Order: sequence, then C-alpha cells, then structure tokens
Amino acid sequence: MIHLIGFSGSLRRASYNSAVLRAAARLVPDNCELRIESIAQIPLYNADVESAQGAPEAVARLKDLIAESDGLVIATPEYNNGIPGVAKNVIDWLSRPPADGARVFRGRPVAIMGASPGGFGTVSSQNAWLPVLRSLGASVWPETRLAISRVSGLVDASDELVDEKTLGLVREFIGGFAAHVARVRAARS
Ligand code: FNR
Repeated sequence: MIHLIGFSGSLRRASYNSAVLRAAARLVPDNCELRIESIAQIPLYNADVESAQGAPEAVARLKDLIAESDGLVIATPEYNNGIPGVAKNVIDWLSRPPADGARVFRGRPVAIMGASPGGFGTVSSQNAWLPVLRSLGASVWPETRLAISRVSGLVDASDELVDEKTLGLVREFIGGFAAHVARVRAARS
C-alpha cells in the first residue's frame, strides 16, 4: 500500500483547493491511500516559541505523519502570484530544526497541484514552491502538472469538485503520482 499525506494551503471553509484534494483522495488507485491533514491548528512560526517549547503539537504530529509517509501532496492556492502565507508557514515549521527538516523532506516525493478561479490555475504559485522544496531536498514530481483554472464553475453547491473532465484530470494526476511513488519505494528497498 502506498501511503500519501496531503494538505490544502487554504483555511477557507469552501476552499477550492481543499475540494481538489478531497477529490484526489477519492480517486486514488486501489493500491494507494491519501490521508488529508488540516493545517488549521498550526500557529504562526515564532523562533522564540520554538526555542522555549519546541514544535507545537500540531506541527510535531504533521512532521511524523509526513516522515512516515511515502509521499506528500500539496494543494496550493495562489496569492499575489505566489505561495499563500499560511501554506508557507506550515513548511517553515516542518523544516525546523534542520535535522527534522531532513527527516520530513529529504528525498520525499512531493506532488504540487492547485486551483484558482482565475485563468492561470496557480501556475505562478506552483512555480514558487519549487525553490522552497528544493532547498529542503524534497523530490518534486516533475512529470506533469495539475493547475485547474476557472474552478468556481467546476464545483457544486456543497463545494465539491463535480466537473467530470476535471475529475478525470485529478484521477490521472494522483494515479501518476502514486505510480511514481511506488517506483521510488521499490528502487529504495
Ligand atoms: C487571490 N487570488 C488569486 N488567484 C490567482 O489565480 N492568482 C493570484 O495571484 C491571486 N491573488 C490573490 C491574493 C489574495 C490576497 C487573495 C485572497 C486571493 C484568488 C484566489 O485564487 C482565490 O481566492 C481562491 O479561492 C483561493 O483558494 P481557495 O481558498 O479557494 O483554496
């Protein structure tokens, strides 16, 4: 079984990116599970808090879950052509202290996807993630991209992704990543 962890970089109740992540969790292949973790309990990074108390419980928990996983899926919104602060804040906590950053990220397969009501589907944000993840030694899946534009027309009244064509793209993307992760795991064992 391939174990993936995913988080959405949005705190918004009706988040499109959370909807895409939920769809991906439903559409994984049979040999794979995608566990969705919320980032809502992760406080703003503060080095004084880290020095005095170490990682907050929500951070420590997410670090362990990612470290024990076969791969990480990030569903990222785009704010001002970049990474939303709440999402970057998560990575900053997860990367501390450096030895733990390596435990969580080094060599870890990561898939980045995103959705936006605009016409470019988070391409700039996804590009902005690359140097961040590279600096942590993560292994970003390079084969394809899932950038969903005009997403507000693709969800239903319950904020679920329902557009069949888009669901097909999500299935293809998460299936491709699962297959990649399986190959990585086999090569390492
Ligand atoms: C945005 N949005 C946005 N969209 C985009 O495609 N490119 C951008 O640069 C921005 N910039 C931006 C800045 C700020 C401060 C906000 C609040 C929003 C719109 C954004 O894609 C939209 O709010 C999405 O709904 C956010 O994702 P979730 O919360 O639906 O997952």
